[in-house]
Amino acid sequence: MEVFYVSLLSLFVLLISLSLHLLFYKNKSGFSSTLPPGKTGWPVIGESLEFLSTGWKGHPEKFIFDRIAKYSSYVFRTHLLGEQAAVFCGANGNKFLFSNENKLVQAWWPDSVNKVFPSSTQTSSKEEAIKMRRMLPTFFKPEALQRYVGIMDHIAQRHFSDGWDNKKEVVVFPLAKRYTFWLACRLFVSVEDPNHVAKFADPFNDLASGLISIPIDLPGTPFHRAIKASNFIRKELVSIIKQRKIDLAEGKASPTQDILSHMLLTSDESGKFMHELDIADKILGLLVGGHDTASSACTFVVKYLAELPEIYEGVYKEQMEIAKAKAPGELLNWDDIQKMKYSWNVACEVLRLAPPLQGAFREAIADFMYSGFSIPKGWKIYWSANSTHRNPELFPEPLKFDPSRFEGTGPAPYTFVPFGGGPRMCPGKEYARLEILVFMHHLVKRFKCEKLIPDEKIVVNPMPIPAKGLPVRLYPHNAI
Ligand code: HEM
Repeated sequence: MEVFYVSLLSLFVLLISLSLHLLFYKNKSGFSSTLPPGKTGWPVIGESLEFLSTGWKGHPEKFIFDRIAKYSSYVFRTHLLGEQAAVFCGANGNKFLFSNENKLVQAWWPDSVNKVFPSSTQTSSKEEAIKMRRMLPTFFKPEALQRYVGIMDHIAQRHFSDGWDNKKEVVVFPLAKRYTFWLACRLFVSVEDPNHVAKFADPFNDLASGLISIPIDLPGTPFHRAIKASNFIRKELVSIIKQRKIDLAEGKASPTQDILSHMLLTSDESGKFMHELDIADKILGLLVGGHDTASSACTFVVKYLAELPEIYEGVYKEQMEIAKAKAPGELLNWDDIQKMKYSWNVACEVLRLAPPLQGAFREAIADFMYSGFSIPKGWKIYWSANSTHRNPELFPEPLKFDPSRFEGTGPAPYTFVPFGGGPRMCPGKEYARLEILVFMHHLVKRFKCEKLIPDEKIVVNPMPIPAKGLPVRLYPHNAI
């Protein structure tokens, strides 16, 4: 009997030790405690394929919501793009990450991004992002933004008369890309000639779709195409930069005409000016950051306006009141933009349902606890816009398109995050607001649209786009 009790006790002790061992994981940094629940998938690739393929199938939120349901937790563990990772979900996750920037977490980009943007100074994208942050406020300050409205209106007029007017049918996504790219070329580097702009456009598409991809550099892979495209565009940008230096020296270009002049003429604290290749990388970063994001947003604006006639009527009424108050040839101005309240609520609802960026990564710079789980230093952390945007507790009937969600004080803090939040919130947010509103103004002033493929599939790679680019039939107002 005694032997039986001793064996039972030994078994009990063994079980407890085993459970404690499983419960408390000791990692390399010596930080021992409970990791978030989840699985790490296949060796090396981890869960990257599931993560990317839910997007390719048009449901990036599925990766997140399946795991929230399975682990009933607002933080889960995974393995993405070659890294141990935790996904933080919900408003608390967003709040935690956005308010602990540079305290517990810092920006992190997948290795693929560093390889596509090899800075000439060999610094990591982290340091480059800090430099960029320092430089941008001048370019995006309110006085500068106010000046851009007229320029955006002028380019939008040219864009619509070239690409939309007198056409029965158009494919929206390539046109929206042409519009945002033309604006960026004009406002960042003063390139306005459509032929010159067009030269960059195709490599840009390759670049954007290879940025967040599995980093296999073999002919035919998206990653390989992105590196090739990045090299081509950087070379083109360097030749623009060289010419600008000459023009500035000869007084043919103005020091304030665009972000390129600003970068060339601004030194750092030690009085050093940026190298040409560094400037090319920074401009490339801005073009990438601002190009596909805003064009995806403009495309989804057209999609929802075509699908929802009562929403279209609201936007049309608001924009026509503004249009009718203008003298012939008078450009849109800052005051007009402030009057576009309903249109911006519609655009926000578009950004809620189809956020151009699904989320972003951070890196833990210290061991810390979150929601009862330990996050070891060095782990990558991902925040996901969809984890709040499509949560029925935060946005009742989340799939319903309802711009009134943005009336009054709007959504609760940290729940509507298409531009991120905290110190790393998208610096181009206001610029994007202007270009989207100017686009909406020109669109509804001219046409009603009808989708040619009523149930067109959406693909998210990495931005959401309708699989066939959203072909629509145009009904000009003067013909209705
Ligand atoms: C609808 C349009 C846009 C959306 C939805 C968007 C969204 C975002 C998001 C979610 C981030 C990441 C924040 C994070 O890391 O947590 C970001 C970063 C960034 N965006 Fe945007 N963006 C848009 C347009 C633009 C435009 C037009 C520009 C430039 C003109 C721009 C420039 C940048 C840059 C430079 C960063 C990196 C900032 C950093 O690393 O500190 N974005 N954007």
